[in-house]
Amino acid sequence: MRDEQPNVARMWDYHLGGDRACAADRRLADAVTAACPEVPLAARANRAFLGRVVRHLVDLGVRQFVDLGAGLPTGCDTHALARGSRVVYVDTDPLAVLHHRVAVVGNPDATVVQADLRDPELVLRHRDVRHYIDFARPVAVLALAVYHLVPDVEEPAAGAAVIYDHVAPGSYLAVTHGSADESPDRAARVGRLYADAGIALRPRSRAEIGAIFGRFELVGPGLVAVDRWHPAAPRTPRTPAGWYGGLGRKAGL
Ligand SMILES: C[S@@+](CC[C@H](N)C(=O)[O-])C[C@H]1O[C@@H](n2cnc3c(N)ncnc32)[C@H](O)[C@@H]1O
Repeated sequence: MRDEQPNVARMWDYHLGGDRACAADRRLADAVTAACPEVPLAARANRAFLGRVVRHLVDLGVRQFVDLGAGLPTGCDTHALARGSRVVYVDTDPLAVLHHRVAVVGNPDATVVQADLRDPELVLRHRDVRHYIDFARPVAVLALAVYHLVPDVEEPAAGAAVIYDHVAPGSYLAVTHGSADESPDRAARVGRLYADAGIALRPRSRAEIGAIFGRFELVGPGLVAVDRWHPAAPRTPRTPAGWYGGLGRKAGL
């Protein structure tokens, strides 16, 4: 029954002000917000980061994007931000995949693949990914607000290392990630709420998030609070505590 199990993609949509959450999603999302009032703000700041980082990459000449853990489309998604670029959305969630499939109908440059980013080889070698993305040319891989849903300590860094080896020099990895650095008690409460709903959450420290980039060299302001990252666009009113974002580049071009 759709209402029984909260779903992170729909909860994220709810935090962003969307209308696709069911009662179970809303209950858990409201409890999360009660435990940590910054979460909806962090969700919006995270999407604003997506907008800035994609526009920045387009300005740098990047025309290919793989958006891992894409979530539900918001109407301001990677293919809309990077018009004319090749975009592949990846998510494990059939609902997120379905919604993105509808969002890209009629767009010959964008597609969506249902796959688990914890198997990066499978994602990168997926027939549809290879059809849309030319890995001999620079590509930007986006992993926004998703690696904290991968509980294994080493897995995101190991996955990013596989991505690094697969992409051409001049490629990029963008990551945003929740941390418990600023308020460990709140993060622990949120973690327990998710765990009670059967969803594993692993906030990482800023140092652990930095380690995910591995050989990708951090560019711009480095790994900073998401709304501090190239804040040329209008700022969100407050910096969400402990929500980091960064962009790494594979050197060589
Ligand atoms: C919080 S949403 C983030 C959506 C979007 N990236 C953003 O920043 O607004 C996380 C998404 O990651 C997806 N996800 C979680 N674990 C995943 C995995 N192992 N592989 C692929 N997608 C995953 C979820 O289904 C959900 O749609």
